[in-house]
Amino acid sequence: MMEQNLLPPARVLGLETSCDETAAAVLEDGRILHSSVVATQMDLHAQFGGVFPEVASRQHIRTIHSVVDQALHQAHLSLSDLDAIAVTRGPGLAGSLVVGMNTAKGLALASGLPLIGVNHLEGHIYSAWINPLDAPAPPEPEFPLLALLVSGGHTELNLMKGHVQYQRLGATLDDAAGEAFDKVARLLGLPYPGGPSIQKAAEGGDPKAFAFPRARLDGTWDFSFSGLKTAVLRVVRQLEGSRQPLPVSDLAASFQAAVVEVLFTKTIKAAQKFGVHTIVVAGGVSANRALRDTFLSQQQFPVHIPELSLCTDNAAMIAAAGYYRFALGQRDPLDLDVLPTWALS
Ligand code: KG4
Ligand code: ZN
Repeated sequence: MMEQNLLPPARVLGLETSCDETAAAVLEDGRILHSSVVATQMDLHAQFGGVFPEVASRQHIRTIHSVVDQALHQAHLSLSDLDAIAVTRGPGLAGSLVVGMNTAKGLALASGLPLIGVNHLEGHIYSAWINPLDAPAPPEPEFPLLALLVSGGHTELNLMKGHVQYQRLGATLDDAAGEAFDKVARLLGLPYPGGPSIQKAAEGGDPKAFAFPRARLDGTWDFSFSGLKTAVLRVVRQLEGSRQPLPVSDLAASFQAAVVEVLFTKTIKAAQKFGVHTIVVAGGVSANRALRDTFLSQQQFPVHIPELSLCTDNAAMIAAAGYYRFALGQRDPLDLDVLPTWALS
C-alpha cells in the first residue's frame, strides 16, 4: 500500500451523471475540495415517483456544460491548471452515463488531460476522504477498513486493504437499502425521494410501535430488505382495511429502526471478524440521521461518514476516487465504454 505522502500532487475535475444529478467538481490531492456543483433533477422526476431514464439523460445534456463551467469558475481554475479528468463509468443508467462520458472525453481531447474512468460505488466510498469546503480536515480513513455502501441502487460490505482494492464480502440479495426507503415511503404516501421523507416522518414516531422483521442471513455478509418491505405493506393493508388513520410516523420510525439495526449489526460483526482499523459508511442512505447516530455512538471502531452534502450523488467523490486511480497509474483510452452494471470487486 502506498502512503498518502508518497502519492503525487494532482488536481482532478470529476464528472458524475449516472442517475438524476448532473455534477462536476474540482478536487486536489484526493482530499482538498475546490468546488462541487450538483444540479439536481429531483423536481423533474418527482411527478413520476422515481427516476425516468429518458428525462434524466435529456436533462444531463442540457445542463452538463454549464455545471462544468461553474465548477471551474468556483475553483478559480481552468482546464490547463488541472492534471486529470475523472468520470463515472458505471454502474448507472446507460443513457445518463453516456452524457458524462462523452463530455469528459471531449474535454480530455481538447485539453490533452488524461481520462480516468471511475466506478460510482467506489466514488461513494472515497467521499469519506474529502475535506468539505469551509470545514476542518477530517482524519484520513485507515486501512484495512470496512466500507458499508448504502445507496439507492446498492447495499454492499467491502473490505479494503489499500487504495482502490475492494473485496466484496456481501451485498443485498434483493432491494437496496435506499430502494427500500423509497418503496416504503410510497406505501406510506410520502413524497419522493423516500429516504429523507421517512426520516422526517419518523421524527415524531415510536421505533418500537411495530416489530418489523430483521433479516439476519447468518453465516453470510449479505442483506435482504424485501421481507421487511412486504411486512410494512401487510400492516398498511390491514390498517387501511380497518379504516383507521395510518400511523405514518410510527410505521416510518419502526421501518427505519429495522433497517438501521440490520446494517449496523452486520457491519460491526464483519469489522470484528476481519480485524479492520476503521469503518466507512457511505452512499445516499448514509445521510440518514438514525444510521449516523447509531454508528457514531459506538466506541469500538473509528467511523468515517461523509458530511451530508457528500453522501448523495456528487462529483467530488468521483474526483476523489479518480485521484487515487490516477496516482496509481491508471490512464484510460478515449474510446472507453460505459459499464452500466459495473461491479466494484
Ligand atoms: O447514493 P445516492 O444519492 O444515489 C445512488 O447511487 O443510488 O442514494 C440515493 C438513495 C435514495 O434511495 C434515497 O432515498 C436515499 O439514498 N436517501 C436516504 C436519505 N437521503 C437519501 N435514505 C434514508 N435517509 C436519508 N436521509
Ligand atoms: Zn450514488
